[in-house]
Amino acid sequence: MSHITLDLTHTGPFIRPEEWAAIEPQAVAAAKLLDSRRGPGADFLGWLDLPVKYDRAELRRIKAAARRIQRQSQVLVVIGIGGSYLGAKAALEFCRPTPPLPPTWSRKKGPLQVCFAGTNLSGTYLQQLLDALGERDFSINVISKSGTTLEPAAAFRFLRHHLEARYGKEGARQRIYATTDRSRGALRTLADREGYETFVVPDDVGGRFSVLTAVGVLPLAAANVDVDALLRGAADARARYRTASLADNDALRYAAARNILYRKGKLIEMLVSYEPRLLYLAEWWKQLYGESEGKDGKGIFPASAQFTADLHSLGQYVQDGRRHLFETLVDIEMPQHDPALPPTDDDLDGLNYLAGKSMRFINEQALQGTLEAHVAGGVPNIRIGVPEASPYYLGHLFYFFEKACALSGYLLGVNPFDQPGVEAYKKNMFRLLKA
Ligand code: PA5
Repeated sequence: MSHITLDLTHTGPFIRPEEWAAIEPQAVAAAKLLDSRRGPGADFLGWLDLPVKYDRAELRRIKAAARRIQRQSQVLVVIGIGGSYLGAKAALEFCRPTPPLPPTWSRKKGPLQVCFAGTNLSGTYLQQLLDALGERDFSINVISKSGTTLEPAAAFRFLRHHLEARYGKEGARQRIYATTDRSRGALRTLADREGYETFVVPDDVGGRFSVLTAVGVLPLAAANVDVDALLRGAADARARYRTASLADNDALRYAAARNILYRKGKLIEMLVSYEPRLLYLAEWWKQLYGESEGKDGKGIFPASAQFTADLHSLGQYVQDGRRHLFETLVDIEMPQHDPALPPTDDDLDGLNYLAGKSMRFINEQALQGTLEAHVAGGVPNIRIGVPEASPYYLGHLFYFFEKACALSGYLLGVNPFDQPGVEAYKKNMFRLLKA
């Protein structure tokens, strides 16, 4: 079976062999520290073994709940934010990308649609969602580890109210699924009191590492994504990225390359892709790396770009602006569809020389031309090749990035599993809200 590849060829002009030699013992030490489970944040390493130590009984319950949601409803509203949202959203867009023109809803029972709430405090968004739900049957999966996060808690109030008004308290109870802490927190208390079916965010898995728990798996199963393949991909990645050898472990090589580039002033990493289905994978990745590394005055700033669209907006800066960037390209090697460009009689746009060529061929030449130009312009490029956009490779990719993120944090000398910085704005916000 082909697998995910890491190509560091285009970091060559920017990293000297001595730098690889110098970082090797540090990278090996970081890998051993993670493996020993004695490093900073060691209480939050449950994600490391999740793909093989998954709670099988819970997985069966998740699949049963997913089938029930499909029978009950036309829409599943997933309520959550940050780590309780981005993984499921990224996976859904990756596996079932939103079509450019979403199909018009009809009363006929079609496949379940999944939408999200609790990711903002916009009344307009909420009202639009309630209006769009209209007469459609819907269920709710409310996800919050703490149970007290403002955005999802506020959205849940609105949607629960709507659901109870529509189906009565008992009917609503059968349509609400809560994913939260095993025993603590406001959502756990409410779910137990109301009798909602619940799923667990394990104590030793932080929000941004939780996509392979019920947090990601229930919405994906409900959307008919093959979650067994997702977990199998992650399990294979776990086996692949275990060794503490820089030469043999791509997650460690990625972490080491990033660290060398960072030390040389490349302070911004842009995750770029040429397939729109990767847009939210980049959002998930930004949270993972931003919250894990950005602390104690340190860290690479994670940014993203969607090519070729952003070549027409950010392209000038990337080519010619301050030289503090590097790019990590996630390249899906086999697109799902590959139509050929049609010819025209008048050839007014001058593209007939490409007639009959596939869109994949054209996209690849854009990729190659951009890569060469950016590298020549002083932007190192790391390429991650993904054979195809399937749940199996997505599971592999999730695990690859999580493992590399933990190793990157240890190489940087931070605790990759805490997020002390996110409390500051909350303190101010709640002071103002309570004033
Ligand atoms: O990574 C994190 O810890 C955060 O992004 C949280 O996931 C996010 O704030 C949501 O928290 P909760 O699940 O407690 O509502």
